[in-house]
Amino acid sequence: MQGNVRPETMERITTKALADAFIEEQVKEIREQVGDKKVLLALSGGVDSSVVAALLIKAIGKQLVCVHVNHGLMRKGESEQVIEVFGKALDANLVYVDATDRFLDLLKDVAEPEKKRKIIGGEFIKVFDEESAKLEGISFLAQGTIYPDILESDGVKAHHNVGGLPEDMEMELVEPVKLLYKDEVRVVGEALGLPHAMVYRQPFPGPGLGVRCLGAITRDRLHALREADAILREEFDNCGLAEKVWQYFIAVPDFKSVGVRDSKRYEGWPAIIRAVNTTDAMTATIEEIPYAVLHKITDRITREVEGINRVLLDLTPKPIGTIEWE
Ligand code: XMP
Repeated sequence: MQGNVRPETMERITTKALADAFIEEQVKEIREQVGDKKVLLALSGGVDSSVVAALLIKAIGKQLVCVHVNHGLMRKGESEQVIEVFGKALDANLVYVDATDRFLDLLKDVAEPEKKRKIIGGEFIKVFDEESAKLEGISFLAQGTIYPDILESDGVKAHHNVGGLPEDMEMELVEPVKLLYKDEVRVVGEALGLPHAMVYRQPFPGPGLGVRCLGAITRDRLHALREADAILREEFDNCGLAEKVWQYFIAVPDFKSVGVRDSKRYEGWPAIIRAVNTTDAMTATIEEIPYAVLHKITDRITREVEGINRVLLDLTPKPIGTIEWE
């Protein structure tokens, strides 16, 4: 499985047995490549970086240093899961950086989507650079590059590639899953014993909730978005939609409407539900959500989330709407 081009004849990893064989082969290759040197990995908690982390921990244990940067725009519980799974269960060498204040201070009053993306991407590189400068004797940089990244490197994904790493990092790369498709990465992740929810996680953009807290981000609205999104995910889990729908989330715009709560005027933001299906994210269709589920979600969000007084459903396919709102 060497070289840059995946032979079209290569057997696809579809079973636990094939995944185990792949893992064994990669462990050997990683040990040969790395020797007794140290490897650095930016661990977002997404599928690809998580599987690479688990693979490297199996191969070289504490010679891997994982850096998890919490930019304050993660979904509810995500950074905690990284700490739980990698820091505790797998006993990894994990550096956790809570950079929430840095990101939110820089994003204050910035309403323009592309500017927000640039700030988030730029600051991510800065924080990661600072952390790696504190570490001694790192010789390799591990990356969760997968085969479609190589195929599409000058396509749509490139413009999405904020949260990427500095190009001038002078370290040799370790990219153990670079010839795999996403579904194969997942099979390998499960064979490595990672939690199902982590391995089958829906896609989440690098700028995170930053592109769903529309306009200039405020801490209170970001908090409301995170809580509403957690309720949506919980209810989709409960009714089986989580297994079926490709991507689903809440967006919260920066305007309020009038409402009423406890017989008093209650101004709040709307929470917008978006649930789409796609194969390649270039086009997307709308998932039909049963009304009973919508009512339950509306009831929970408006009762449990401070600051939200309406729940709306986005019925727009892509095109014309992009999947994200910003
Ligand atoms: P759009 O909104 O362009 O999104 O229809 C297509 C897919 O890409 C994800 N997305 C991003 N992923 N960084 C990422 O890593 C980004 O800046 C970004 N913007 C959008 C989006 O969630 C969807 O899956």
